[in-house]
Amino acid sequence: MKLYTDRFILTPGPTEIPHCVRMALTRETTNPDLDPEFLEEYNKVRSMLRDLLGARGASIYVMVGEAILGLEAAIANLVKPGYRVLVIANGVFGEGFADIVKAYHGIPILVGASDDEWRRSIEVSAIDRELERNKDVSIVTLVHCDTPSAILNDLSSVAKVVKEHGALLIVDAVSSIGGVPVEFSKNEVDVLIGGSQKVLNAPAGLTIVAISEAAWEAINRINYSGLYLNLRMWRESLDTHGVFPYTMSDVLVYALEEALKTLFNEGLDSVYRRHLMARRASWGALEALGLTPFPASIDNSSPTVTAFLTPSGISDRELRDYLWRKYGVMLAGSWGRLQGRVIRVGHMGVQASRTHLLIAYTALAKALRDFGCGVSVSRVVDAIEDVFD
Ligand SMILES: Cc1ncc(COP(=O)(O)O)c(C=O)c1O
Repeated sequence: MKLYTDRFILTPGPTEIPHCVRMALTRETTNPDLDPEFLEEYNKVRSMLRDLLGARGASIYVMVGEAILGLEAAIANLVKPGYRVLVIANGVFGEGFADIVKAYHGIPILVGASDDEWRRSIEVSAIDRELERNKDVSIVTLVHCDTPSAILNDLSSVAKVVKEHGALLIVDAVSSIGGVPVEFSKNEVDVLIGGSQKVLNAPAGLTIVAISEAAWEAINRINYSGLYLNLRMWRESLDTHGVFPYTMSDVLVYALEEALKTLFNEGLDSVYRRHLMARRASWGALEALGLTPFPASIDNSSPTVTAFLTPSGISDRELRDYLWRKYGVMLAGSWGRLQGRVIRVGHMGVQASRTHLLIAYTALAKALRDFGCGVSVSRVVDAIEDVFD
């Protein structure tokens, strides 16, 4: 029987929102457009994000809207009709950048789009080859962690080769920031997009955009004329006049602030180490269950999410529905090419813990047993405990 208290949201975003972050949503509200203290608090959040992203000297904006807003803003402000953009397409969101590029009448050139490449971090030599072959490409898009497949791309080696070719790099770090270092300035990233509802464990509804000086030069040159996604308007309005270009959500910013404080209270080194442990424990649990990870190896896999192949003979939908109804554990399926083929466990932020992984994988082990698979619950417990001991 599933009890009312059996509600474990172990998906790779939206994630569980910790109590302190939920409490921030109940704070006294204000008029964020007029209250000078709110602007100060918003700027404090920007400063914490600058530290989290390693983005000294970058412009940082927290915008109301989900992360797709940030992705689209990056393309809208940097791509003119006819521009050719190298899209690193080894995943659902990686490939999805091509649709946004096309929506702005750019021409995407895809690299890494084969089924085999979807199971691996992108090969830097493939990017080098494409940039060598397409000298007119001045923008490259990368997804750091492609959440639907759990693939983690090596941001610093990709950035290095992109810079060698003098191109700008746009990075979707929606499901990595807060769990994996991104080192925006050190890696010379030009635009980086984050989301609130993944590793940061805040509510959905905010997107974070970091912009380098080199990107500003291109943005100013391109002179995008739209309104809602216009990054020049954000800079002019907020940085020059101290005014939001449109109404900010005070409570969502309070929640994000609280979420960031919990990260810094723990310390970023500890946070990143904990996510690496979660990845090891999660892979150990899969091995104990005889399940096959989707990424080709653990090094190709993100410390924030694990993806595995749906066990043969079982429907992913049925298994996940059963886990939820019987054990109160919510896992995620996947999208696009991977729909039905892949099941995912989120270990993002507070979920990257011994307890959360024990709940996820013991429930999965029991469900598989209920479906007639001969698996051992205690082996799964040992595999997780071994890592966190
Ligand atoms: C890698 C990645 N990019 C972008 C998005 C889109 O984020 P949102 O749903 O907040 O628009 C997601 C959401 O799952 C994601 O995983």
